Amino acid sequence: MSHNSEKQSFEDRDGVIWINGSLVPWREATIHSLSHGLHYGGCVFEGERAFQGHIFLSNEHSERLLFSGRELGIEIPYTTQELNDAKDEVLKKNGFQNAYIRAFAWRGSEQLGLSAQGLKIHVAIACWEWPSYYGDGLTLQTSRWRAPDPKTAPTGSKAACNYPTHTMIKDEAVANGYGDGLMLDTEGKYVAEASGANIFMVKDGTIKTPIPRCFLNGLTRQTVIKIAQRDGLNIEECDITPDELSGADEVFVTGTAANVTPVTKIDNTEFDVGPMTKQMQAAYDSITHSPEEEDELRAKYPYDALKG
Ligand SMILES: Cc1ncc(COP(=O)(O)O)c(C=O)c1O
Repeated sequence: MSHNSEKQSFEDRDGVIWINGSLVPWREATIHSLSHGLHYGGCVFEGERAFQGHIFLSNEHSERLLFSGRELGIEIPYTTQELNDAKDEVLKKNGFQNAYIRAFAWRGSEQLGLSAQGLKIHVAIACWEWPSYYGDGLTLQTSRWRAPDPKTAPTGSKAACNYPTHTMIKDEAVANGYGDGLMLDTEGKYVAEASGANIFMVKDGTIKTPIPRCFLNGLTRQTVIKIAQRDGLNIEECDITPDELSGADEVFVTGTAANVTPVTKIDNTEFDVGPMTKQMQAAYDSITHSPEEEDELRAKYPYDALKG
């Protein structure tokens, strides 16, 4: 009941959740069953991590939350700085140094037609201790589901309405004995991403990653690219076919929940955990634990503008 273990229901935990500017006891942080956000997918969210009390890329995550909201017509009534401060407050009040932080915004229950006019936008922030999402290594199965067309879904946003497909991809792969599914792009021609992380491959010393045309341009992905540029490594954003991926020397995935995780198998092809993957794991570990290094990288290689 009292300690937050992985298997414990998210309804029944100690701590506080920030909702619309107030800290609410965890078990009382509920929403109404007729919320528009629940029925029509009007919800955007962020996943972030704090390391030793410091939230990595907090400002960029707040900006992405506001950007995702704007993409869906959800005008979040807080500034980037107000969101940053609220996240720090929630982390501190819950007494965590190392934690996953979930900030989210959804449409309320003033009316339940399709139109979103006149609906209140609610915002909440929760945090909990969460180990690396995929553990030490990940196996992937190519999914029959493809990444959605960016003309029909807000694929560049972290919007809840994108995720039911991702859940099907994940659960199907897990049912088949894999850790996650690998999604191809809308046409089924090139590699896109895993259900909750971006993908990289290494071939003959060059790091390659797909161009985010139909999937989230993750902040961890962007960080890994910047680290590679800073450290003088060969890195390319390019189209990658499934065949090219199977011929890779190394494969790894990136994400806030996953950090940098080696991929050890895709379908029937196995991969060793290679030197470039280990180097990136160490470099990512270093930057997430050093606000000074984070500031230096951000100053030299600014993150994608998310002003919308
Ligand atoms: C579908 C999807 N792709 C990629 C990522 C990685 O994004 P980020 O590195 O910003 O956490 C995530 C996780 O947030 C995700 O849900």
